[in-house]
Amino acid sequence: PRPRPLAGKRVLITAGPTHEPIDPVRYIANRSSGKQGFAIAAAAQAAGADVTLVSGPVELRDPAGVTVIRVESARDMLHKVEAALPADIAIFAAAVADWRVANEGEQKLKKTAAGMPPLQLVENPDILATISKLKEKRPPLVIGFAAETEHLIDNAKAKIARKGCDWIVANDVSPASGVMGGDRNTVHLLTREGADKIGVDSINVESWPVMTKEQVATELVAKIA
Ligand code: C5P
Repeated sequence: PRPRPLAGKRVLITAGPTHEPIDPVRYIANRSSGKQGFAIAAAAQAAGADVTLVSGPVELRDPAGVTVIRVESARDMLHKVEAALPADIAIFAAAVADWRVANEGEQKLKKTAAGMPPLQLVENPDILATISKLKEKRPPLVIGFAAETEHLIDNAKAKIARKGCDWIVANDVSPASGVMGGDRNTVHLLTREGADKIGVDSINVESWPVMTKEQVATELVAKIA
């Protein structure tokens, strides 16, 4: 029989983009495919975990044996994540929109002589930071992602401290990398042990070779185990 190192563990994962409505027919989105988060869900399930996957709109099938909750916006995603707690491990792989439209139209916006409609943006809740900073229900291991197009490691180190998570999977999403929407990923795993060690110096960085997103998922699950 296959080893099941995560048997009995509850794993909560976010994946995909979010869609932030402009009006009933339009939205703001990003290029996330959801592939990395779905691969992690499948790998955690294969390792015996009880997996809940909260996903934004993606064109992927539910991984077998995983509880999948589909959402649209960042605010929906936060509510479903909160409702899915408690968890032993939380992995935030979603590319959540940083902003949403404040003045969402109730009807489809029309072209008028008055010119273009101004879109006002307001900041979305940060799901990773919100869950990392919970007092009672904080999962013992909280993992975030950092998709950057430059200064990858420095930005990821700062992100661990700012968001209060334990690990960050940093990946280069510059257009030349082909990561966004692609099947491969080049990642660096940043870890810090113990809530007292929040200094940048105490963060360990492991750089992994280029792998498929499934391989990244398997390696990450092995580290967690
Ligand atoms: O700040 P940035 O978006 O680069 O942080 C990325 C990490 O934070 C990812 O793990 C992402 O899932 C999470 N995040 C989130 N909610 C947001 C923005 C980012 O959970 N509103």
